[in-house]
Amino acid sequence: MKTIHAFNWSRIRVFLMLISGAMLATPSLAEQNSSIRLNPSQPGHTINRDIFGQFAEHIGEGIYGGIWVGEDSKIPNVKGIRADVVKALRAIKVPVVRWPGGCYADQYHWREGVGPQSSRVDRINPWGNVIEPNHFGTDEFMEFVQQIGSEAYINLNLGSGTVQEAADWLEYMTTDLPTTLAKQRAANGHTAPYRVKYIGFGNEAWGCGGAMTADEYFARLKAYSVFALNHNPQQRFAGIDLLFDRDAHNPHAMQRIAAGPNDTDTAFTEALMKKWAAAPGYLPLFDAMSLHHYTMTRGPMSDASQDFDESDYATFAQLALNMDRVITLHTEIMDTYDPQKKVALVVDEWGNWLKPDIAENPKFLKQQNSLRDAITASLTLNVFARHADRVRMSNIAQMVNVIQSMILTDGEKMLLTPTYHIYHMYVPFQDATLIPISIDSGRYRMDDINLPQIDAIAARDANGKLWLALTNIDPVDSADITLQLEGMVVKSAKGEVLTAPRVDTVNRFDEPAAVVPKPVKFTAKNSRLLLSLPPKSVTVVELKG
Ligand code: AHR
Repeated sequence: MKTIHAFNWSRIRVFLMLISGAMLATPSLAEQNSSIRLNPSQPGHTINRDIFGQFAEHIGEGIYGGIWVGEDSKIPNVKGIRADVVKALRAIKVPVVRWPGGCYADQYHWREGVGPQSSRVDRINPWGNVIEPNHFGTDEFMEFVQQIGSEAYINLNLGSGTVQEAADWLEYMTTDLPTTLAKQRAANGHTAPYRVKYIGFGNEAWGCGGAMTADEYFARLKAYSVFALNHNPQQRFAGIDLLFDRDAHNPHAMQRIAAGPNDTDTAFTEALMKKWAAAPGYLPLFDAMSLHHYTMTRGPMSDASQDFDESDYATFAQLALNMDRVITLHTEIMDTYDPQKKVALVVDEWGNWLKPDIAENPKFLKQQNSLRDAITASLTLNVFARHADRVRMSNIAQMVNVIQSMILTDGEKMLLTPTYHIYHMYVPFQDATLIPISIDSGRYRMDDINLPQIDAIAARDANGKLWLALTNIDPVDSADITLQLEGMVVKSAKGEVLTAPRVDTVNRFDEPAAVVPKPVKFTAKNSRLLLSLPPKSVTVVELKG
């Protein structure tokens, strides 16, 4: 627990508000005047929509109960997949889902999860030491992805699997030729080849994926890269194809992801990128490198997910913004070996990994989700957007019931978390063009933490609409922001604001709307548009001329 200074201005502000009978919910005593400047005619990089991707692993109720209930369940479902969860996920336009892990990917044997349900193999899942029935396998995952309107990111087993097993899996999923595996797929209900947008070569090779050094991992990755091929006619031209057609380029080609570093392990990045750069030019061995970075103070499962204080809140806000430093450390190395930015950095596991407080089995990693999680999600997504030239995908951990999830379920009940609402509010930023902005705001101070009060991104979407996302980190002070746009007069701004009475307010099954976005509209007066941001809030607005 962080030390809370006896003499602390934030505490005094809270005390003053308390005695005025309006803790945290009312406007602050000292509103700060801030400004944001942007020039929409100077666009930046495209914010790849895959930055808003998700991760679904076989952990606890992440799949079973959360997504898959089976066709005989009394919970409404389509082909065994929960209808309420699908409806909610469609609304946030999930661009891509990573599956089946995580650590689980390096223990997963795909053949055990295809064919008639009665012939599926029971296995131990070390996440919670429970039986994995393999009822949710490749065809169920692809059905799920199709139901939510998303794309597949399949993580291969490079740890305990074989190159042939991986090659066969891709042939099963993607070939249009009448091979034995394609006939098996057709017999399992899918004649047409599936589309696999991303393939991952193992997971956390430095840890649960096989405890390898970067050099050991690269030596193993090479065979997977060359032999595990996508045969879908619309996605060919990857791996060995390039041997025969060096100029081949297919924008739909499957992107191959190397399992990269953890946190600030720059030595791993250095070793991997060095190998990538030294590989023969006609055979690039991977198109992206993953980075895993979880937010926690004393290790996973130690920080409270509710009933925490302002000091804990400020710590997590600071840690969320620290994602910028972590990405910068790795991108600087990548720039050295790959100045043309051919290799994407994909942050395919991130989020606030907190103490599980609603699970019987702690290894099910089911935790509550508060306004704090929503605010840190917005700060992290802003960091990714600012690094969009290199960061082209991220997958928050995880989609349903695990770590910082979008959705919590309990039997037939389902609720949307505060983090879900951020993903919903940020939909306009998918594939939008970033517009660089300069922010002049006050500071938020707590203990020895000193952060800008306001964090924001701006972007223009494909329809030409201008969007602004603004996070007021300060849990006590509101902020009035003056907007200064070059070459455009903004008459109004309309959108949504997400806030709650306290930073640790959560949605519960008996109170599912404690943290939900509310409509907001600002109108210019005397050609001046002032955006009033409540304390501890995220506001997303469309700017209208
Ligand atoms: O997301 C939970 C676990 O965290 C994943 O299985 C693993 O990759 C990471 O350590």
